Parts: sequence; C-alpha cells; structure tokens
Amino acid sequence: MLSQRVKKAVLPVAGLGTRVLPGAKTTPKNLLNVFDRPILSYIVEEARAAGIEHFVFIVGRGQGAIEDYFDANPEIEGTLEAKGKLDILADVRRDLPQPGEMSFVRQMAPLGLGHAVWCARHIIGDEPFAVMLPDMLMMASPTALAQAVAAHEETGGNIVVVEPVPEGEAHKYGIVALEGRDGRLNRMTGMVEKPPPGTEPSNLFISGRYILQPEIFEILETQERGAGGEIQLTDGMANLMKTQAFHALEYDGTTYDCGDKIGLLRANVAFALARPDLGEAARKAITDLL
Ligand code: G1P
Repeated sequence: MLSQRVKKAVLPVAGLGTRVLPGAKTTPKNLLNVFDRPILSYIVEEARAAGIEHFVFIVGRGQGAIEDYFDANPEIEGTLEAKGKLDILADVRRDLPQPGEMSFVRQMAPLGLGHAVWCARHIIGDEPFAVMLPDMLMMASPTALAQAVAAHEETGGNIVVVEPVPEGEAHKYGIVALEGRDGRLNRMTGMVEKPPPGTEPSNLFISGRYILQPEIFEILETQERGAGGEIQLTDGMANLMKTQAFHALEYDGTTYDCGDKIGLLRANVAFALARPDLGEAARKAITDLL
C-alpha cells in the first residue's frame, strides 16, 4: 500500500513526573538519566532511526531545560575543546539537532494526553505523524518506532504499538480490542482507556508509540473528557476508528516505564549492560553489589 512517509514526531513531555519525585522536581522527568544520557536522548535516537526529521515537544512551565539540552552550550563545548577532551565533546554534541529540526509548544494547562497531542496541530499540518510517550523507553532493533513505521508502510491508516499487560494492571493503561490475532500486526476493532478491572477487551496495552493520521486533530478539538477527567488520546482514536483503519502492532523488544522508580532503575541497569563500551564494567559493578 502507498502511504505518505512519516517525518514528524510529537513528544508530550509536560507531565509533572509525580512518581519519580523528588528527582523530577527541578529536572523535567524525561531529562532524568538512564545510565549516562537523559531519557530524551534515547527517544530522539529511536525516532531518527525511524526516519523522523522534525520533533515537536509539548512542554509545560518550568521545562526550559529540555530546550537547553538540545541547544549548543558554548561554555561547556569551549572548555572541552580547550582541554582537548574531544571524545566527551563529541558525546555532548551527539544529540544536537540541525537548526529548525525541533519545535517546542506550551500546553498551558494539563488537560490530558489528547489535549497535548492536539497542541501540535499547526506544526504537523496535513500529514501522518508519530506520537512517542517518552516515559516508555523501548530497547529494540530495529527501534520500536521504526517497526511502527514499517507496519504503517504495509497497512496505511493508523498504527498503535501494543504489548502484553502485566497481570492485574490493565486498569492503568489503554487496552485494545482486535478483530483476530494472527502474527504481530492485527486490525483493531476498539480500544478503551483505563478499563475497570475485569472489563478489559484483551491483554494488550497501548505502550506509547503511535502513527496517526491528521484527521485526529479535528476529533481532539471537541473530544470530551474521559478517564481521570482528562481529554484522552485513546478516546479520540476510538472516534477516528469509526472512519479509518487502525492496526495494533505487537513490537519486538522490551519496554521500561521510566515514569516509575523501579522501572527507571531497571532501565538504568538494562541500558548500562547493553553498552558495547561500558557494559562489561557495568556487569562487574552490579555483580559486586549483589
Ligand atoms: C497513557 C495513555 C495510555 C497508555 C499509557 C502508556 O496513559 O493514555 O493509553 O497505555 O500512556 O504509558 P498515562 O500513563 O498518561 O496515564
């Protein structure tokens, strides 16, 4: 199927990070480190590997550090250069965008994920786009978003990345309903945000990567508040599904919920162990501790 290429990604980062306080008090939660880089460094790398060329960050008040992270820092860079610490300099510059590759939009009020995505409408325009929830760090090869983009090239329409939900936790997530289950990519028939325990339509939860068609914006514009009194992206997608196809992709990889203290710890260990340069030293340090 011929589908328009996905070039832009929306990254809603405005959340307060309640579950990772006090660390997230003065550092936006998605700038907390996983091993030696901020979470957003991995997310941007994942997106670039999927062909993303423009990043739209939906930020809240007090999150200027995100813009600063993706900007040059002449003081740090100049000092490293003068001291000849060129390997560190290259590492610091690795995440820098080309000028114009990133936009920052203020959400202004915490009205929910659906509202956050809607805030990107003017920058996205009339083309399919990706949504990435940066709390969910995904270790995968090809990257989780690259797998979603490949699925979109196959089916067109809208793609929602899903995975099996841990026992008893379905009520915390968006859960999808499938037409049938044959392989990893299946047509969806429904979805529900935070279903009451025992009512979930499957064991697959929406894990934080989406490819959406721009018609979602008209729907989100008038979308009523849902679970938790928030404007939910899941409700908007359920409405869009009345006129457009949605497929759920069970991606191949491992997800770490960095919005949670133990999830963040697990991500730190896993990403340290996976590092070609420092993985062995990390393994030794962790083994010593145990
Ligand atoms: C959001 C989405 C939900 C998804 C979850 C993944 O919920 O609304 O569908 O399953 O992210 O983390 P939140 O975590 O903001 O409550």
